[in-house]
Amino acid sequence: MSFDVNSLEAHWMPFTANRDFKSNPRMVVKSEGMYMWDYKGGQIIDGSSALFCTPAGHARREIAEAVYNQMLNNDYTPHFQLGHPGSFELAERVCRLLPDDFNHVFFTNSGSESVDTAIKVILAYHRARGEAQRTRLVSRERAYHGVNMGGVSLAGMIKNRETFGLTLPNISMIRHTWTEQQRFAKGQPLTGGEMAMDLERIAENLGGNTLAAVFIEPVAGSTGTLVPPVGYLEKVREICDNHGLLLVFDEVITGFGRMGTPFATYKFNVKPDIITMAKALTNGSIPMGGVAVTDEIYNTINDASPINAIEFFHGYTYSAHPAACAAGIASQKIYQEESLFEQAASMESYFLDAIWSLEDHPMVADIRGIGMMAGVEVHPGATPGARGMEMQKAMFWNGLHIKWTGDNAIIAPAFIAERKHIDEIVNKFRKTLDQLK
Ligand SMILES: Cc1ncc(COP(=O)(O)O)c(C=O)c1O
Repeated sequence: MSFDVNSLEAHWMPFTANRDFKSNPRMVVKSEGMYMWDYKGGQIIDGSSALFCTPAGHARREIAEAVYNQMLNNDYTPHFQLGHPGSFELAERVCRLLPDDFNHVFFTNSGSESVDTAIKVILAYHRARGEAQRTRLVSRERAYHGVNMGGVSLAGMIKNRETFGLTLPNISMIRHTWTEQQRFAKGQPLTGGEMAMDLERIAENLGGNTLAAVFIEPVAGSTGTLVPPVGYLEKVREICDNHGLLLVFDEVITGFGRMGTPFATYKFNVKPDIITMAKALTNGSIPMGGVAVTDEIYNTINDASPINAIEFFHGYTYSAHPAACAAGIASQKIYQEESLFEQAASMESYFLDAIWSLEDHPMVADIRGIGMMAGVEVHPGATPGARGMEMQKAMFWNGLHIKWTGDNAIIAPAFIAERKHIDEIVNKFRKTLDQLK
Protein backbone atom coordinates (compact mmCIF):
# COMPACT_ATOMS: atom_id res chain seq x y z
CA MET A 1 0.00 0.00 0.00
CA SER A 2 1.15 3.51 -0.66
CA PHE A 3 -0.18 6.95 -1.35
CA ASP A 4 0.53 9.16 -4.26
CA VAL A 5 0.31 12.88 -3.67
CA ASN A 6 2.87 15.50 -4.62
CA SER A 7 2.68 17.53 -1.47
CA LEU A 8 0.92 17.52 1.87
CA GLU A 9 0.98 21.31 2.13
CA ALA A 10 -2.23 22.22 0.33
CA HIS A 11 -4.57 20.62 2.84
CA TRP A 12 -4.71 22.62 6.07
CA MET A 13 -5.77 19.84 8.43
CA PRO A 14 -8.31 20.35 11.24
CA PHE A 15 -7.39 19.96 14.92
CA THR A 16 -3.99 18.66 13.81
CA ALA A 17 -0.40 19.65 14.46
CA ASN A 18 0.06 20.21 10.73
CA ARG A 19 3.84 20.61 10.68
CA ASP A 20 4.41 17.59 12.87
CA PHE A 21 1.94 15.42 10.96
CA LYS A 22 3.38 16.34 7.60
CA SER A 23 6.88 15.39 8.72
CA ASN A 24 5.74 11.81 9.40
CA PRO A 25 2.17 11.34 8.15
CA ARG A 26 -0.15 8.87 9.80
CA MET A 27 -1.84 8.24 6.48
CA VAL A 28 -4.73 5.80 6.39
CA VAL A 29 -5.40 4.24 2.99
CA LYS A 30 -7.98 1.59 3.77
CA SER A 31 -10.55 0.69 6.43
CA GLU A 32 -12.82 -2.28 6.99
CA GLY A 33 -14.70 -3.62 9.99
CA MET A 34 -12.69 -3.03 13.17
CA TYR A 35 -9.49 -2.10 11.31
CA MET A 36 -7.72 0.58 9.31
CA TRP A 37 -4.49 0.20 7.32
CA ASP A 38 -1.71 2.73 6.99
CA TYR A 39 0.26 3.36 3.81
CA LYS A 40 3.10 1.17 4.97
CA GLY A 41 0.72 -1.79 5.27
CA GLY A 42 0.36 -1.62 9.07
CA GLN A 43 -2.98 -2.88 10.44
CA ILE A 44 -4.53 -0.59 13.04
CA ILE A 45 -7.40 -1.56 15.29
CA ASP A 46 -9.89 1.25 15.65
CA GLY A 47 -10.45 1.79 19.38
CA SER A 48 -12.56 4.95 19.04
CA SER A 49 -14.95 4.10 16.18
CA ALA A 50 -12.89 6.67 14.23
CA LEU A 51 -14.28 9.78 15.97
CA PHE A 52 -17.15 7.85 17.64
CA CYS A 53 -18.88 7.66 14.25
CA THR A 54 -18.80 4.05 13.09
CA PRO A 55 -20.63 1.69 15.46
CA ALA A 56 -21.31 -0.79 12.64
CA GLY A 57 -17.63 -0.90 11.66
CA HIS A 58 -15.89 0.57 8.64
CA ALA A 59 -16.73 0.31 4.94
CA ARG A 60 -20.14 -1.30 5.20
CA ARG A 61 -21.17 -2.46 1.75
CA GLU A 62 -24.92 -1.92 2.42
CA ILE A 63 -24.30 1.78 3.07
CA ALA A 64 -22.00 2.20 0.07
CA GLU A 65 -24.54 0.58 -2.23
CA ALA A 66 -27.43 2.64 -0.87
CA VAL A 67 -25.47 5.84 -1.48
CA TYR A 68 -24.36 4.71 -4.95
CA ASN A 69 -27.91 3.87 -6.00
CA GLN A 70 -29.22 7.11 -4.58
CA MET A 71 -26.62 9.14 -6.46
CA LEU A 72 -27.56 7.49 -9.74
CA ASN A 73 -31.27 7.93 -9.13
CA ASN A 74 -31.42 11.41 -7.61
CA ASP A 75 -28.13 13.04 -6.70
CA TYR A 76 -29.43 16.23 -5.14
CA THR A 77 -32.70 17.92 -4.36
CA PRO A 78 -32.50 21.36 -2.83
CA HIS A 79 -34.41 21.09 0.40
CA PHE A 80 -35.83 24.59 0.43
CA GLN A 81 -39.48 24.30 -0.66
CA LEU A 82 -38.77 20.94 -2.36
CA GLY A 83 -38.42 17.50 -0.90
CA HIS A 84 -37.31 13.95 -1.58
CA PRO A 85 -38.67 10.86 0.18
CA GLY A 86 -35.43 9.81 1.92
CA SER A 87 -35.40 12.66 4.42
CA PHE A 88 -38.91 11.85 5.62
CA GLU A 89 -38.13 8.17 5.99
CA LEU A 90 -34.93 8.86 7.88
CA ALA A 91 -36.60 11.40 10.17
CA GLU A 92 -39.27 8.84 11.06
CA ARG A 93 -36.67 6.20 11.77
CA VAL A 94 -34.77 8.58 14.05
CA CYS A 95 -37.94 9.61 15.90
CA ARG A 96 -38.75 5.96 16.57
CA LEU A 97 -35.52 5.80 18.59
CA LEU A 98 -36.50 8.80 20.72
CA PRO A 99 -38.99 9.36 23.55
CA ASP A 100 -42.65 9.47 22.47
CA ASP A 101 -43.16 13.20 22.03
CA PHE A 102 -39.97 13.69 19.98
CA ASN A 103 -41.59 13.59 16.55
CA HIS A 104 -39.58 16.10 14.51
CA VAL A 105 -35.99 16.28 13.29
CA PHE A 106 -34.23 19.19 11.58
CA PHE A 107 -31.30 17.85 9.56
CA THR A 108 -27.87 19.46 9.50
CA ASN A 109 -24.44 18.38 8.24
CA SER A 110 -22.51 18.05 11.50
CA GLY A 111 -22.68 18.18 15.26
CA SER A 112 -21.54 21.80 15.24
CA GLU A 113 -24.38 22.77 12.94
CA SER A 114 -26.78 20.82 15.15
CA VAL A 115 -25.74 22.84 18.20
CA ASP A 116 -26.01 26.17 16.40
CA THR A 117 -29.37 25.12 14.97
CA ALA A 118 -30.57 24.16 18.46
CA ILE A 119 -29.65 27.63 19.74
CA LYS A 120 -31.82 29.18 17.04
CA VAL A 121 -34.70 26.78 17.75
CA ILE A 122 -34.55 27.74 21.43
CA LEU A 123 -34.58 31.48 20.76
CA ALA A 124 -37.39 31.14 18.20
CA TYR A 125 -39.43 28.99 20.60
CA HIS A 126 -39.27 31.43 23.50
CA ARG A 127 -40.07 34.34 21.21
CA ALA A 128 -43.06 32.44 19.79
CA ARG A 129 -44.31 31.93 23.35
CA GLY A 130 -44.06 35.64 24.08
CA GLU A 131 -40.96 35.22 26.26
CA ALA A 132 -38.39 36.93 24.06
CA GLN A 133 -36.47 38.00 27.16
CA ARG A 134 -35.22 34.45 27.57
CA THR A 135 -31.93 34.76 25.73
CA ARG A 136 -29.39 33.51 28.26
CA LEU A 137 -27.80 30.12 27.59
CA VAL A 138 -26.10 28.02 30.21
CA SER A 139 -23.29 25.59 29.54
CA ARG A 140 -20.63 23.77 31.53
CA GLU A 141 -16.91 23.76 31.98
CA ARG A 142 -15.21 21.02 29.96
CA ALA A 143 -18.14 21.00 27.52
CA TYR A 144 -17.59 20.46 23.81
CA HIS A 145 -20.40 21.58 21.59
CA GLY A 146 -18.59 21.86 18.27
CA VAL A 147 -16.69 24.62 16.58
CA ASN A 148 -19.23 26.96 15.03
CA MET A 149 -19.69 30.28 16.77
CA GLY A 150 -22.63 29.14 18.91
CA GLY A 151 -20.92 25.93 19.96
CA VAL A 152 -17.64 27.70 20.70
CA SER A 153 -19.51 30.20 22.86
CA LEU A 154 -20.87 27.26 24.86
CA ALA A 155 -17.51 25.52 24.99
CA GLY A 156 -15.74 24.87 28.22
CA MET A 157 -12.40 24.08 26.58
CA ILE A 158 -9.94 26.92 26.73
CA LYS A 159 -7.96 26.04 23.61
CA ASN A 160 -11.11 26.19 21.51
CA ARG A 161 -11.89 29.72 22.69
CA GLU A 162 -8.85 31.70 23.68
CA THR A 163 -7.53 32.31 20.16
CA PHE A 164 -10.76 33.84 18.96
CA GLY A 165 -11.81 36.21 21.72
CA LEU A 166 -15.18 37.12 20.35
CA THR A 167 -18.03 34.79 21.30
CA LEU A 168 -21.78 35.10 21.83
CA PRO A 169 -22.93 37.23 24.76
CA ASN A 170 -25.29 36.03 27.51
CA ILE A 171 -23.66 32.70 28.25
CA SER A 172 -23.21 31.47 31.81
CA MET A 173 -20.99 28.56 32.70
CA ILE A 174 -21.55 26.10 35.52
CA ARG A 175 -18.98 23.65 36.82
CA HIS A 176 -18.14 20.33 35.22
CA THR A 177 -18.98 17.41 37.47
CA TRP A 178 -15.61 15.70 37.95
CA THR A 179 -14.13 15.77 41.43
CA GLU A 180 -11.12 14.14 43.07
CA GLN A 181 -13.40 11.73 44.95
CA GLN A 182 -14.53 10.22 41.65
CA ARG A 183 -11.08 9.02 40.60
CA PHE A 184 -11.38 5.52 39.06
CA ALA A 185 -15.14 5.38 39.77
CA LYS A 186 -16.75 3.00 37.27
CA GLY A 187 -20.14 4.05 35.87
CA GLN A 188 -22.03 6.91 37.51
CA PRO A 189 -20.07 8.44 40.41
CA LEU A 190 -21.89 8.46 43.73
CA THR A 191 -20.62 11.93 44.63
CA GLY A 192 -21.05 15.27 42.90
CA GLY A 193 -24.79 15.23 42.16
CA GLU A 194 -25.23 18.39 44.22
CA MET A 195 -23.35 20.38 41.56
CA ALA A 196 -26.64 20.60 39.64
CA MET A 197 -27.45 23.38 42.12
CA ASP A 198 -25.03 25.59 40.15
CA LEU A 199 -27.88 26.02 37.70
CA GLU A 200 -30.20 27.11 40.48
CA ARG A 201 -27.65 29.72 41.54
CA ILE A 202 -27.50 31.13 38.01
CA ALA A 203 -31.29 31.35 38.03
CA GLU A 204 -31.26 33.08 41.40
CA ASN A 205 -28.52 35.52 40.40
CA LEU A 206 -29.72 36.42 36.92
CA GLY A 207 -33.45 35.70 37.07
CA GLY A 208 -34.90 32.35 36.08
CA ASN A 209 -37.12 34.04 33.50
CA THR A 210 -34.09 35.27 31.55
CA LEU A 211 -32.78 31.74 31.02
CA ALA A 212 -33.43 30.17 27.63
CA ALA A 213 -31.76 26.77 27.91
CA VAL A 214 -28.98 24.72 29.42
CA PHE A 215 -26.78 22.57 27.20
CA ILE A 216 -25.59 19.29 28.66
CA GLU A 217 -23.64 16.41 27.16
CA PRO A 218 -25.20 13.54 29.18
CA VAL A 219 -21.68 12.11 29.26
CA ALA A 220 -19.12 14.81 28.45
CA GLY A 221 -17.28 12.99 25.71
CA SER A 222 -14.54 15.01 24.10
CA THR A 223 -12.89 16.07 27.33
CA GLY A 224 -12.47 12.50 28.45
CA THR A 225 -15.74 10.80 29.35
CA LEU A 226 -17.08 12.64 32.38
CA VAL A 227 -19.99 10.53 33.59
CA PRO A 228 -22.85 12.36 35.32
CA PRO A 229 -23.00 11.70 39.07
CA VAL A 230 -26.04 9.89 40.42
CA GLY A 231 -28.94 12.35 40.75
CA TYR A 232 -27.29 15.14 38.75
CA LEU A 233 -29.28 15.04 35.53
CA GLU A 234 -32.54 14.53 37.44
CA LYS A 235 -31.87 17.65 39.48
CA VAL A 236 -30.98 19.68 36.38
CA ARG A 237 -34.30 18.60 34.84
CA GLU A 238 -36.17 19.69 37.96
CA ILE A 239 -34.51 23.11 37.99
CA CYS A 240 -35.30 23.60 34.29
CA ASP A 241 -38.96 22.82 34.97
CA ASN A 242 -39.08 25.18 37.93
CA HIS A 243 -37.65 28.10 35.95
CA GLY A 244 -39.10 27.39 32.50
CA LEU A 245 -35.84 26.94 30.59
CA LEU A 246 -35.24 24.19 28.07
CA LEU A 247 -32.93 21.27 28.64
CA VAL A 248 -30.79 20.30 25.65
CA PHE A 249 -29.00 16.97 25.61
CA ASP A 250 -26.12 17.20 23.18
CA GLU A 251 -26.06 13.56 22.15
CA VAL A 252 -23.66 13.96 19.25
CA ILE A 253 -21.53 11.21 20.81
CA THR A 254 -23.98 9.41 23.09
CA GLY A 255 -26.72 9.03 20.45
CA PHE A 256 -27.27 5.85 18.45
CA GLY A 257 -26.37 3.24 21.00
CA ARG A 258 -23.12 4.41 22.60
CA MET A 259 -24.66 3.97 26.07
CA GLY A 260 -26.21 0.61 25.15
CA THR A 261 -29.55 2.38 24.72
CA PRO A 262 -30.73 4.16 21.56
CA PHE A 263 -29.99 7.52 23.19
CA ALA A 264 -28.55 8.47 26.59
CA THR A 265 -31.90 9.87 27.65
CA TYR A 266 -32.96 6.25 28.26
CA LYS A 267 -29.76 5.26 30.04
CA PHE A 268 -30.18 8.01 32.61
CA ASN A 269 -33.97 8.09 32.52
CA VAL A 270 -34.06 11.87 32.16
CA LYS A 271 -35.92 13.45 29.27
CA PRO A 272 -34.63 16.67 27.71
CA ASP A 273 -36.60 19.04 25.45
CA ILE A 274 -34.14 19.02 22.56
CA ILE A 275 -31.65 16.38 21.44
CA THR A 276 -28.75 17.17 19.12
CA MET A 277 -27.13 14.32 17.23
CA ALA A 278 -24.67 13.65 14.42
CA LYS A 279 -21.80 11.20 14.60
CA ALA A 280 -23.32 7.72 14.19
CA LEU A 281 -26.37 8.84 12.23
CA THR A 282 -24.78 7.64 8.98
CA ASN A 283 -22.19 5.35 10.56
CA GLY A 284 -19.62 8.00 9.70
CA SER A 285 -20.04 7.53 5.96
CA ILE A 286 -21.53 10.88 4.88
CA PRO A 287 -21.62 14.05 6.99
CA MET A 288 -24.98 14.52 8.66
CA GLY A 289 -26.47 15.73 11.92
CA GLY A 290 -29.87 16.51 13.33
CA VAL A 291 -31.83 18.33 16.00
CA ALA A 292 -34.83 16.49 17.42
CA VAL A 293 -37.55 18.43 19.20
CA THR A 294 -40.80 17.71 20.98
CA ASP A 295 -44.25 18.32 19.51
CA GLU A 296 -44.57 21.26 21.90
CA ILE A 297 -41.54 23.05 20.43
CA TYR A 298 -42.34 22.25 16.79
CA ASN A 299 -45.99 23.26 17.12
CA THR A 300 -45.26 26.43 19.05
CA ILE A 301 -42.84 27.70 16.41
CA ASN A 302 -45.12 26.72 13.53
CA ASP A 303 -48.28 28.14 15.09
CA ALA A 304 -46.61 31.51 15.62
CA SER A 305 -46.35 32.20 11.91
CA PRO A 306 -49.09 32.73 9.33
CA ILE A 307 -50.42 29.72 7.44
CA ASN A 308 -48.34 29.09 4.28
CA ALA A 309 -45.43 31.19 5.52
CA ILE A 310 -41.97 29.79 6.23
CA GLU A 311 -41.99 29.11 9.96
CA PHE A 312 -38.28 28.85 10.77
CA PHE A 313 -35.81 30.96 8.82
CA HIS A 314 -32.94 28.55 8.94
CA GLY A 315 -31.44 25.80 6.79
CA TYR A 316 -28.34 24.69 4.94
CA THR A 317 -27.88 24.08 1.22
CA TYR A 318 -27.05 20.51 2.09
CA SER A 319 -29.69 19.95 4.81
CA ALA A 320 -31.01 16.39 4.32
CA HIS A 321 -28.86 15.73 1.25
CA PRO A 322 -30.19 12.62 -0.55
CA ALA A 323 -26.87 10.79 -0.30
CA ALA A 324 -26.68 11.44 3.44
CA CYS A 325 -30.28 10.32 3.91
CA ALA A 326 -29.61 7.11 1.97
CA ALA A 327 -26.55 6.50 4.13
CA GLY A 328 -28.59 7.26 7.26
CA ILE A 329 -31.41 4.88 6.35
CA ALA A 330 -28.97 2.10 5.47
CA SER A 331 -27.08 2.66 8.75
CA GLN A 332 -30.24 2.61 10.84
CA LYS A 333 -31.29 -0.63 9.15
CA ILE A 334 -27.97 -2.23 10.05
CA TYR A 335 -28.24 -1.08 13.67
CA GLN A 336 -31.70 -2.58 13.88
CA GLU A 337 -31.14 -5.81 11.93
CA GLU A 338 -27.92 -6.60 13.76
CA SER A 339 -29.31 -5.48 17.16
CA LEU A 340 -26.19 -3.38 17.58
CA PHE A 341 -27.46 -1.24 20.46
CA GLU A 342 -28.29 -4.42 22.39
CA GLN A 343 -24.87 -5.74 21.44
CA ALA A 344 -23.30 -2.59 22.92
CA ALA A 345 -25.28 -3.11 26.13
CA SER A 346 -24.19 -6.71 26.44
CA MET A 347 -20.51 -5.83 25.90
CA GLU A 348 -20.48 -2.96 28.44
CA SER A 349 -19.25 -4.83 31.48
CA TYR A 350 -16.57 -6.80 29.61
CA PHE A 351 -15.39 -3.60 27.96
CA LEU A 352 -15.27 -1.57 31.17
CA ASP A 353 -13.55 -4.35 33.12
CA ALA A 354 -10.93 -4.62 30.38
CA ILE A 355 -10.26 -0.88 30.46
CA TRP A 356 -10.10 -0.86 34.25
CA SER A 357 -7.33 -3.48 34.05
CA LEU A 358 -5.09 -0.50 33.14
CA GLU A 359 -5.69 1.03 36.58
CA ASP A 360 -2.46 -0.38 38.01
CA HIS A 361 -0.24 1.31 35.41
CA PRO A 362 1.91 4.11 36.88
CA MET A 363 1.19 6.36 33.89
CA VAL A 364 -2.56 6.18 34.41
CA ALA A 365 -4.04 9.00 36.50
CA ASP A 366 -7.74 8.19 36.21
CA ILE A 367 -10.25 6.01 34.40
CA ARG A 368 -13.91 6.86 33.82
CA GLY A 369 -16.51 5.08 31.75
CA ILE A 370 -20.03 3.98 31.06
CA GLY A 371 -21.67 2.16 28.17
CA MET A 372 -19.21 1.57 25.36
CA MET A 373 -17.17 4.64 26.19
CA ALA A 374 -14.25 5.09 28.56
CA GLY A 375 -11.73 7.81 29.33
CA VAL A 376 -8.21 6.96 30.38
CA GLU A 377 -6.25 9.96 31.65
CA VAL A 378 -2.47 9.81 31.82
CA HIS A 379 -0.26 11.90 34.09
CA PRO A 380 0.83 14.98 32.16
CA GLY A 381 4.32 15.28 30.70
CA ALA A 382 6.37 18.48 30.36
CA THR A 383 3.28 20.48 29.36
CA PRO A 384 -0.42 19.55 29.53
CA GLY A 385 -1.36 17.48 26.51
CA ALA A 386 2.21 16.69 25.44
CA ARG A 387 2.12 13.14 26.72
CA GLY A 388 -1.32 12.53 25.20
CA MET A 389 0.02 13.62 21.83
CA GLU A 390 3.04 11.31 22.13
CA MET A 391 0.75 8.46 23.16
CA GLN A 392 -1.57 8.96 20.21
CA LYS A 393 1.29 8.90 17.73
CA ALA A 394 3.04 5.93 19.31
CA MET A 395 -0.20 3.97 19.50
CA PHE A 396 -0.83 4.47 15.82
CA TRP A 397 2.51 2.93 14.89
CA ASN A 398 1.76 0.17 17.43
CA GLY A 399 -1.42 -0.60 15.49
CA LEU A 400 -4.04 1.17 17.60
CA HIS A 401 -6.16 4.23 16.87
CA ILE A 402 -7.48 6.12 19.88
CA LYS A 403 -8.88 9.66 19.98
CA TRP A 404 -6.97 11.79 22.49
CA THR A 405 -7.92 15.18 23.88
CA GLY A 406 -5.02 16.57 25.82
CA ASP A 407 -3.93 13.83 28.21
CA ASN A 408 -7.25 11.99 27.97
CA ALA A 409 -7.76 8.97 25.76
CA ILE A 410 -11.35 8.32 24.76
CA ILE A 411 -11.94 4.68 23.98
CA ALA A 412 -15.18 3.84 22.22
CA PRO A 413 -15.03 0.77 20.01
CA ALA A 414 -17.57 -0.13 17.35
CA PHE A 415 -20.47 -2.26 18.57
CA ILE A 416 -19.40 -5.09 16.27
CA ALA A 417 -16.32 -5.47 18.50
CA GLU A 418 -15.82 -8.95 19.89
CA ARG A 419 -13.99 -9.71 23.13
CA LYS A 420 -10.81 -10.41 21.19
CA HIS A 421 -10.95 -6.89 19.73
CA ILE A 422 -11.40 -5.31 23.15
CA ASP A 423 -8.43 -7.37 24.38
CA GLU A 424 -6.33 -6.23 21.43
CA ILE A 425 -7.17 -2.59 22.13
CA VAL A 426 -6.26 -2.88 25.81
CA ASN A 427 -3.07 -4.85 25.13
CA LYS A 428 -1.81 -2.31 22.59
CA PHE A 429 -2.77 0.51 24.96
CA ARG A 430 -0.70 -1.06 27.74
CA LYS A 431 2.19 -1.76 25.40
CA THR A 432 2.32 1.92 24.45
CA LEU A 433 2.08 3.03 28.07
CA ASP A 434 5.04 0.76 28.84
CA GLN A 435 7.07 2.23 25.99
CA LEU A 436 6.56 5.84 27.08
CA LYS A 437 6.82 5.31 30.81
C1 LIG B 1 -21.09 16.66 22.17
C2 LIG B 1 -20.62 17.18 20.85
N1 LIG B 1 -21.27 18.18 20.27
C3 LIG B 1 -20.90 18.67 19.07
C4 LIG B 1 -19.83 18.14 18.41
C5 LIG B 1 -19.40 18.71 17.09
O1 LIG B 1 -19.63 17.81 16.06
P1 LIG B 1 -18.91 17.99 14.64
O2 LIG B 1 -17.47 17.73 14.84
O3 LIG B 1 -19.60 16.97 13.78
O4 LIG B 1 -19.19 19.37 14.18
C6 LIG B 1 -19.11 17.10 18.97
C7 LIG B 1 -17.94 16.53 18.30
O5 LIG B 1 -17.18 15.78 18.85
C8 LIG B 1 -19.51 16.60 20.23
O6 LIG B 1 -18.85 15.62 20.83
